[in-house]
Order: sequence, then C-alpha cells, then structure tokens
Amino acid sequence: MSSDSCPLELRDLTTGYGDVAVVRNASMRFPERLITTIIGSNGAGKSTVIKAAAGLLPAWKGAVLADGVDITGEAAWRRVGRGIGYVPQGRVVVPEMTVQDNLEIGAHILKGDRAKIDAATRRVTELFPVLAQRLKQLAGTMSGGEQQMLAIARALMTSPRIIILDEPSLGLSPKFVDIVFEKLKTLRDEGLTVIMVEQKASRALGVSDLGYVMHLGKVVYSGRAAELIENENVKRLFLGQVPEELQALAEDADA
Ligand SMILES: Nc1ncnc2c1ncn2[C@@H]1O[C@H](COP(=O)(O)OP(=O)(O)O)[C@@H](O)[C@H]1O
Ligand SMILES: [Mg+2]
Repeated sequence: MSSDSCPLELRDLTTGYGDVAVVRNASMRFPERLITTIIGSNGAGKSTVIKAAAGLLPAWKGAVLADGVDITGEAAWRRVGRGIGYVPQGRVVVPEMTVQDNLEIGAHILKGDRAKIDAATRRVTELFPVLAQRLKQLAGTMSGGEQQMLAIARALMTSPRIIILDEPSLGLSPKFVDIVFEKLKTLRDEGLTVIMVEQKASRALGVSDLGYVMHLGKVVYSGRAAELIENENVKRLFLGQVPEELQALAEDADA
C-alpha cells in the first residue's frame, strides 16, 4: 500500500438519479482507523455519496478507490467481500425475524460456515451485550436504539475493515445516541475505518477525527473534526444548536 493510499477514497465523483446529478465532483478520503463524518443540510447529497462508495449507485464520473485500487465499477456485494460494510439509514432490520436470524443475514458471505457464524455472533454480541440476551427475540419487539445496534452488528458479522453508516443516530433517544457514538469509537480503536453521515452535526463531529461538509451536492468544507467545530462559517451555517436541540426534544419520546 503506497503511503498516500487509504482504505477508501472518492475522487471527483459525480452521481445522481435519472438525469439529475446530485453529487458533483466530490473528493473525499477516509483514512485508516479514523472516524470520518459527513455533515450537511437535508438533501445535500450525503446519503447519495456514501451509496456510491458502497457500490449501491454507479459513479457517472470520477472514481472510487480501495487501498488505491480502482473499484469504481465493482458491485456492492464484491465490496462487502473486500471488507466494506454498509449500514443503511433507518435501522433496517427484519422485524418478524429473530435477532439471531437478522445477524445471520449479515453473515451470508460466510456461506453457512457454522463455526465462523458462531464466532462472528460472539464477537458482535460482546460489542453489543444487549443483543446477547435477545438472540431468540423478534427484532421488531426491541426498542429503536436496540434495533439500530442490531443493524450495526449485522454489518459487522463479516468482519469488515471499513464500516459506512447512514445517520446511525436518527430517531434515537439521547441515551442511545451516546451509546451508538461510543460504540463507533470502540470500533475505531479496534482498528476499523468508520465513515458516517450525520444530521446531529456537532455531536457527530465531537466523536470524529475528520469531517466533510456537503452543500448542494458539493464538498464545501473539510478538515479535522476539531477544527471544523471551531470554524466560524461551519458553525454559523451547519452547527445550529437550536435545530439540534429541537430535534432531540422531538425524538425524546422514541427510545
Ligand atoms: N432515489 C432517489 N431518486 C431521485 N432523487 C433522489 C433519490 N434519493 C435522493 N434523491 C434526491 O437527491 C438529493 C440528495 O439526496 P440525499 O443524498 O438523500 O441527501 P442527504 O442524505 O444529504 O439528505 C435530494 O434532492 C433528493 O431529493
Ligand atoms: Mg440522507
């Protein structure tokens, strides 16, 4: 691996839906063993850019590189095989299946290897002990925060090196937001490269190493998270405390 390559990188990426480009010439680097967070207003193109990184949307222009290797045309399932995990927005679990069966969906590339699946289950339930006691419980009967942990645990079943999360804190009570962000730090400290998109911009930057700010499909600011938090323009335009506080109030009811 050359010194300037990193586990995942987007170069000059343009993509969108139909004939509308919603991400334009975005360049982002996601260095090893760091948490990089993408913030920006609603509709800025954050989800779109990470879908292109995960292989769920084709790049119209530009490139996606993994360890310096061009994987632009590679299918999403092949990227999973490379160690790129993706957790979609909205704690997507199968509610009528048990926690264990949800985890096993995540382990499909282990091809039914019982010993490997059991080892993976042990690993993820160590990280999320709340799931350990609930393996036989139907996923839909757990709280929103627990379902989000299950969604993350499922993506970890294949031991990815990189985990990409779309708004992991969405709809969670403040207590679960803290837990989820702490788990992401643990994963980073264990060696994962963590990439997330977040609406809770200041809190997310607070647990991140690096940040990108998107607006209207473009990267408008980037740098060390600690510096972005102090940047007057970023503060004024993207880190409004009031909207975040209101959002937290609205979400308090939904633990
Ligand atoms: N499946 C889709 N089809 C068409 N347009 C979409 C689709 N998903 C998102 N968009 C549009 O792309 C733009 C960026 O969306 P998105 O990446 O979801 O923004 P963010 O995640 O930053 O809120 C928005 O204008 C949105 O309406
Ligand atoms: Mg989004």
